[in-house]
Order: sequence, then C-alpha cells, then structure tokens
Amino acid sequence: MLNQQDNDLLTRVENQAPLGQLMRRYWMPACMSEELPQPDGDPIKVRVLGENLVAFRATDGSVGVMDELCPHRRASLLYGRNEEGGLRCLYHGWKMDVEGNVVDTPAEVRREGAPCKKIRHKAYPVRESHGFVWIYMGEEATMPEFEPPAFANGTNPIISIAKINLPCNWAQIVEGGIDSAHASLLHSSEIRPTGNTARAGLAETHTLTRPSVDKAPRLHVHRTEYGMRYVALRTPITNPETDEYARIATFIAPCTVLSPPNGTYSTIQFIVPRDDESTSFYFVGWTDDQTEGTGVTQEVWRQRMGAVVGVDLDDDHWPLRTPANRFKQDRAAMKQGSFTGVRGIANQDSMMWVTMGPISDRSKERLGTSDAAVAQFRRVMVEAVKAFSRGEPPIGTTQPRLPHRRIRSFEGVIKKETDWRELGILPE
Ligand code: FES
Ligand SMILES: [Fe+2]
Repeated sequence: MLNQQDNDLLTRVENQAPLGQLMRRYWMPACMSEELPQPDGDPIKVRVLGENLVAFRATDGSVGVMDELCPHRRASLLYGRNEEGGLRCLYHGWKMDVEGNVVDTPAEVRREGAPCKKIRHKAYPVRESHGFVWIYMGEEATMPEFEPPAFANGTNPIISIAKINLPCNWAQIVEGGIDSAHASLLHSSEIRPTGNTARAGLAETHTLTRPSVDKAPRLHVHRTEYGMRYVALRTPITNPETDEYARIATFIAPCTVLSPPNGTYSTIQFIVPRDDESTSFYFVGWTDDQTEGTGVTQEVWRQRMGAVVGVDLDDDHWPLRTPANRFKQDRAAMKQGSFTGVRGIANQDSMMWVTMGPISDRSKERLGTSDAAVAQFRRVMVEAVKAFSRGEPPIGTTQPRLPHRRIRSFEGVIKKETDWRELGILPE
C-alpha cells in the first residue's frame, strides 16, 4: 500500500517529476537497433519520459535521437528526408546531423561560405549496444560512461528482444517482473512442475518446467546499492528435507529486472516509461555464449512471448489484445485446461498490468506475504527519488559499486544452508 504522494513519486515521470529527473541520470533504451535497419532508412518516432523524439540512422550508420519537432517552426521531422548525413525537414529544408547541429538552411539568405545558424537542435547522446539504441537524457555534465548492461557480455551471445508498448505505468510492469508468486498461477499453463531439472526439448514444447509444485514461495529480500534482490524459496519435489528450490530475481535501478533463467537461456527486462501512463517493455531472452542447445531465436522468443508484429502487435508494437476485445480471451480453451485463455506469457502479464488502470491506485491494495519483493521495490524507488531530490547522488552510482555486467539472476535447487545472496554474482 502506498499513499497518493508516494504513489506519485513512484510512478510519475513527465514534466519536472522527480522520478523523471532521476531516470535522466542513466543510459536508457530508446528503441531496438533493428528498428533502424539501414543507413538513410525510415526515421521512427519514439517517446521516452514524456518526450516525443525521432530516431534515424544516418548515412554513416550512426544513430541520431532528437526532438521530433523541427527547430525552425516545429513541423515533425518524422516525415523528413534522411539523406547525406542528416535529417532534413520537409517544410523549409533545415537539416540536422545526429548531434543536432543544424547543417543546412537552404531558405535562409546568408553570405557565401558563412556557417548555418548557430542553433543546436535538442539531440541526445547515443550508444548502440546489445541490440538496443541507448540514450542519455540528462545534462551533458552529469553523463556517466556507458557501461555494459547486466546481460549477454560473453563472446558469442544470442540476444532476442520482444518489444511491447503498453498503455500503463512503468511501475506496474516492474512489479510484475519481480513478483514470483504469480508465475505458478497466471502462467501455470506454460510453467509446469517436473520431478527432475532436465529440460530437454524446451524450445519445441513451449513449456517451462520447475522442480517444485509449491505455490506459496517464501520470499527473502536483500537490499543492495543498485536496487534489490530477492529469493523465492519453494519446497522441491525431491529431497525436500535438505534442499530448497531457489529463484532469485534482481531489480537494478532505475528500470532493469533480471528474472531467473531456465535451462537454456536467461531473461532480462527493460521497462522504459514513455510517459506517466504508457511504457515500452523490452523482454529479452539471451545467452552469453552460444553453445549447442542454448539460447532462443528471435522468432521463437517473440512467438513464445506473444509479441509478434502483425500477429500480436501492430506495427508500432502496441498489443492487438486490448480491453475493447477482452484481450481475445478464449473461454472455451479455459474449460479445456488453459488457465487464462490467452496465449503467450507476455500477453497474460500485460492483460493483468493494463487492467490495473493507467496508474494503479496503490492506496486501495491489500498486500500479502507474497508481495514482500513488490513492497521492497517501492521502498527502494520512493527512497531513491526522495534522496535524489535532496541532492544525493542517483541510486547505484556511488562507489564501491558492482559493475552491472557481474549481476545475474539465479535458478536452481540448493542446499538449505547456502547463502543465497552470493548466488548469481559473477567473479571479477
Ligand atoms: S519548420 Fe522545419 S524547416 Fe521550417
Ligand atoms: Fe509474468
């Protein structure tokens, strides 16, 4: 439960909201690299932290992400010409390079050889890495080095990204990502118990397996300098006296969730607020080093998640399942054994997140024991926002700190005496 004031601190990013200001101190995904497949290709519209932006890949392959509206008289650059190292507005031909420099103003009278107007269009620093276009939306003076994110830093990684834009606030999605209890219910048709941990044929069967039938996990939460981790302990099917089945999820502020891996690949989520009431949700299946039988292809991953453009999503990655069509829920399938009547893990999650409303009213909830991690996430972020507003450094940026590339989630059967907090942290 959160009072209205703290709920606003946790959820709102637009205008001068303190959370939005905090999030501007980190590199954030703006879009997938594959959305800008070729130099001088189609520009795309992206929205991050309440700002409408246009992203384009210039002639040399570099990417620009800038204010959607032209610096001259504010026509949309989305319809502009992407040519010869910049994006040219159709209205009077002003042209901006990837850094936002105005490099041509053909309708302006000026002396031969004189520079164009000394106007810098608002453009954000960009890095491309791990299948994403990352931007830094803070002041240049506070810009940190881009650091490798907490996934796929091996020599031969496979990275498969499902992107879904959702009409609800970011915090609802993070809370889904760190909520272990729901998986044994909401996803029970996809995630089945099994007596052993072998997961042969996983990619074909479309079913995830677990060595436990325990639906009431015991949660232990551990606060860290970068956010929080928690373990969900379930009684395993075999050796229940000495062993525990542990699933560790991790939240790295401000918007990364590492959920537990399965036998053949790991997952990570980036939950990027478009604005107060909508979010770009990136769900990534990945493996560090491709070896026989590991990893998941882009195609299989998107099918499994129910995130295929043209089937599950429109061209701009918005779900075709909406409240207006009751999320295309198949009640007949429910009678025949489907728990939800909805295909695809991400479709099931988004049905829950979206139906909570654009911004869930957390003052009306009744939290239970299974919500310990959700409650801790809120505490971490509300306190981080308050601390930042007092002038303290952004959460997770003070030394000593664990580089994100060393942080992993974990899944497995462990001995009861194991210190779970050390599991999944990679050595130096
Ligand atoms: S409005 Fe873009 S060049 Fe005039
Ligand atoms: Fe889920």
